[in-house]
Amino acid sequence: MKEKIQETLNVIRSQITIRPSTGVILGSGLGEFSSQLASLVSIDYKDIPYFLPVGVQGHHGKLEFGILDGVQVVVQNGRAHYYEGYTLQDITYPTRVMAALGVKNLIVTNAAGGVNKDFNPGDFMVIRDHINLMGDSPLRGPIPQDGTPRFVDLSQAYDSKYSELIISCGKELGLKMHQGVYVAVHGPNYETPAEIRMFKTLGGDAVGMSTVPEVIVANQLQLTVCGISCITNMASGILNKRLNHMEVIQTAARVKQNFIQLLKKLIPLLP
Ligand code: HPA
Repeated sequence: MKEKIQETLNVIRSQITIRPSTGVILGSGLGEFSSQLASLVSIDYKDIPYFLPVGVQGHHGKLEFGILDGVQVVVQNGRAHYYEGYTLQDITYPTRVMAALGVKNLIVTNAAGGVNKDFNPGDFMVIRDHINLMGDSPLRGPIPQDGTPRFVDLSQAYDSKYSELIISCGKELGLKMHQGVYVAVHGPNYETPAEIRMFKTLGGDAVGMSTVPEVIVANQLQLTVCGISCITNMASGILNKRLNHMEVIQTAARVKQNFIQLLKKLIPLLP
C-alpha cells in the first residue's frame, strides 16, 4: 500500500504546488463547488495511478486543487461506488491519498434519501453519526503494515465542533439545516418501504449508498471528519410516489448554489 500511495503522490505532486489541509469529497450533482477555487488545477482520475473511473451521471471524476480564502483545498470531485462492483478498499484509496498529501480536515458530502419525515427534498442534513448496512468494511483484510490501527474507534466519527459549525454557517445563510444519522446501504437498487421503516426504527434519518467507507478510513488515519447530506428525495414509501435517479440529480442541481455557499463559509472557519 505504501508503495502504491507513493507512486500516486509522485504523479500528483509533479502537477501541483498546493499543500492541502482540507479535503472535500463531492457527491452526486454537487461537483460545481470546485469552480470557486482560485489557482485551480484539475487532474483526471484516469491520469492518476490506482484511481477508479467514475460511472454515475452527476459525478465528475477529477481530483482538484485550489485555494479558498487562503485555505489550500483538495476536492475529490466524484467517487466510485461499491455498487459498481469495486471493493471498499478500492473506493477509499483517494481518502488515503488525501491523508498522505497532508490533509487534516475531511468534509464528506452526498445525496441522500430522507427517512425522517421532518425533512424535505432540498434540505441539508449534518451527519452526526452513521449506521453501516453495506455489509462490509474498508478495513477488512490483513493487519495494516503502516502502523495504523485495525480496530478503529468510531465513537466520534463525525467531529461535533465541526458539525455545529456547519449548522451555524447554514443558519447564517438562511438554509434549512437538520442533523441526523446517515444509513449506508450498498445499493444500487433503491430501498423498499419496509426497509425504510426499519431504518427509521433503527434511528436512521437519511439513507444513501456512499460516504461511510471513506469516513471509516479517514478515522483510521485520524482526520477530523464532518459530513453533509443533501436530501434529494424522500426515501421509498414516505411519499406515495416512485423514486428515480433524475429526481436526485434535479434536486441537487436546484440547491447546488446553497451548497456551494455553505462550503465557502465553512472551509475558512475550520482549524
Ligand atoms: N436511497 C438510497 N440512496 C439514495 C437515495 C435513496 O433514497 N437518494 C439518494 N441516494
